[in-house]
Amino acid sequence: MTYNIAVLPGDGIGVEITEQAQRVLAALGLDLSMTTAPVGGAAYDQHGHPLPASTLELAKSSDAILFGAVGDWKYDKLERALRPEQAILGLRKALGLFANLRPAILYPQLANASSLKPEVVAGLDILIVRELTGDIYFGQPRGLRTAEDGAFKGERQGFDTMHYAESEVRRIAHVAFQAAAKRSGRLCSVDKANVLETSQFWRDIMVDVAKEYPDVALSHMYVDNAAMQLVRAPKEFDVVVTGNLFGDILSDEAAMLTGSIGMLPSASLNASNQGLYEPSHGSAPDIASQNIANPLATILSAAMLLRYSLNEPEQAARIEKAVQAVLEQGLRTADIHEPGTTKVSTSDMGDAVLKAL
Ligand code: NAI
Ligand code: MG
Repeated sequence: MTYNIAVLPGDGIGVEITEQAQRVLAALGLDLSMTTAPVGGAAYDQHGHPLPASTLELAKSSDAILFGAVGDWKYDKLERALRPEQAILGLRKALGLFANLRPAILYPQLANASSLKPEVVAGLDILIVRELTGDIYFGQPRGLRTAEDGAFKGERQGFDTMHYAESEVRRIAHVAFQAAAKRSGRLCSVDKANVLETSQFWRDIMVDVAKEYPDVALSHMYVDNAAMQLVRAPKEFDVVVTGNLFGDILSDEAAMLTGSIGMLPSASLNASNQGLYEPSHGSAPDIASQNIANPLATILSAAMLLRYSLNEPEQAARIEKAVQAVLEQGLRTADIHEPGTTKVSTSDMGDAVLKAL
């Protein structure tokens, strides 16, 4: 069986890092058909749109998408609909990518990269499952109005609407329970049920879905407490599931616990396990085209692609082991370099992973 993979390198370091991930995928001996298309600013330059119809069609017809990163200051003056970031939003919407999986792993070899004490973070391996297509980011109505009554009557007022439909909560719950079942069997649902109706509803549905997963222990935590616990004792978490707004913030917080944004992959999945895989970082225009970016987040995203969209967990594990091996050899790109280790370029790092494979 041939797997079709759309490769969308995008802008900045996106080009350099997807090249390395592609080399790794190609070396596995699987029957992969990889097709590259422009996205983001690169697509705007060529086609006048960040997500041209041809790129969207390719993405839709593929089993999975390997995505680099998009964005550059030079597009800041474009109207919002033509900005590079719109490509990601467009892909999420067109493919229904509602489940965002963001692992935060601290490799033992990089324990010093974290700003937290080594004993607090050593061995950290958590997974944040963020709902990606609902919540206050997309709720209607939203906008500006003049307050008609109350203490601020007559004043201009900005407003947004938070809501979740039952089916939206159920489907993200299933993704999270299944992920937890494959890991430690612990799932923490984060909400603000003491204040928000949406959160109480979310919590009730989580409790209901839990009945289908007797082997997973479900707990609940308020988001403000979760933000504290993540820096106090992050290893007490395993899988965390939360809504779009809270997940946006907590997944970035969890990423920073590891101190190495160049190491963190992500997956965004839809109901048929089609997915978009990309590093957690952006296009890093400050270091683009210098062959110094860390390709490991993208290589690890390719591993997630194998695990979640192609159902090739052994191949995914091979890549993850190879990454561990290069870290063990002391090889480091500039972002994770420290005294006593060997500084290597983007392509050298790709070479080393291939060799370790
Ligand atoms: P960024 O993640 O691109 O960079 C932040 C800092 O981390 C920079 O100093 C950069 O050099 C460094 N960095 C990031 N990835 C690295 C890697 N693989 N290896 C070594 N160093 C790395 O975030 P920033 O600077 O806020 O945004 C730059 C552009 O990226 C903007 O246009 C932004 O909109 C876009 N962006 C795109 C995302 C995406 O495509 N999903 C996500 C985040 C930002
Ligand atoms: Mg964010």
